[in-house]
Amino acid sequence: MTDANTPKTGPVTTRTGAVRTITAAVGEVLVSARGLQKSFGDRQVMKNVDFDMLVGDITVIIGKSGSGKSTLLRALAGLTEPDDGRIMFDGEIVFDEQKRTPVWKEVDSYIGMIFQSYTLWPHMDVAKNLTLAPRKKLGMSEDEAMERAKKSLAEVGMSQHLHSRPAQLSGGERQRAAIARALMMEPKLLLCDEITSALDPPVAAEVLGVLQRLKEEEGIAVALVTHDMAFASKAADRLVFFHEGEIAVNTTPDEAFNRSDNPELKKFVDAVRF
Ligand SMILES: Nc1ncnc2c1ncn2[C@@H]1O[C@H](COP(=O)(O)OP(=O)(O)OP(=O)(O)O)[C@@H](O)[C@H]1O
Ligand SMILES: [Mg+2]
Repeated sequence: MTDANTPKTGPVTTRTGAVRTITAAVGEVLVSARGLQKSFGDRQVMKNVDFDMLVGDITVIIGKSGSGKSTLLRALAGLTEPDDGRIMFDGEIVFDEQKRTPVWKEVDSYIGMIFQSYTLWPHMDVAKNLTLAPRKKLGMSEDEAMERAKKSLAEVGMSQHLHSRPAQLSGGERQRAAIARALMMEPKLLLCDEITSALDPPVAAEVLGVLQRLKEEEGIAVALVTHDMAFASKAADRLVFFHEGEIAVNTTPDEAFNRSDNPELKKFVDAVRF
């Protein structure tokens, strides 16, 4: 575990065989999106979205269903191609002129995404689920991958489940295993899309606590779509409110929840507060 002020910058060998080192330090911009646009048919889902993420920050994204939150995360993860705009990662252009640049392939192993529905392979135990990508993508040996799996599981408090199958785990345990799997690739950017929505509040709090500890100890940039306003106000460094495909508010959680005069944000917060 590294100190928050000395983030890991070790080189990784990527699928292209190239070696790239991430240079952004804590507090510096890791990801920067400008003018992202995306339409499905005649429906504009992202309208000119500008978005920055800093190393060591948790950015919480909130907003009504269909407002474009997942589309932004998917665009940053390389799962959706924007129609227009530019994305920079660690100071280099990874997406421009409607396509990914060659740099993308060199940095994509630094980007982890976790979804609401558990994406563990049901027929493999936790160890196999965790070691698959590093072995295939990074060419890691079985022993090395296994050592890293044990370390990742320890980080999320799941050491005892190395050989459990997903069906033998609770929802919160599966979600923590999914986080451990994302950690296997030593991401600098972790994109979490409603990963606690299906969990009981105490279990959700536990999973979110894991993320908070990780960003503090590992100095990674985390973006988190959540409906958990308590977590958003407590753990977020930045609070982004999406409204109809636009970032309507991007500020500190305190400012957003207590001093924003954005009428749509007020309506949204009132509606989810009970
Ligand atoms: N592959 C797709 N094809 C067509 N429309 C899509 C596709 N993906 C997303 N959309 C539409 O884009 C809009 C934004 O979707 P997105 O998933 O980003 O919303 P969201 O803010 O994440 O919502 P939720 O809170 O419900 O997850 C929605 O109206 C959705 O139906
Ligand atoms: Mg979504």
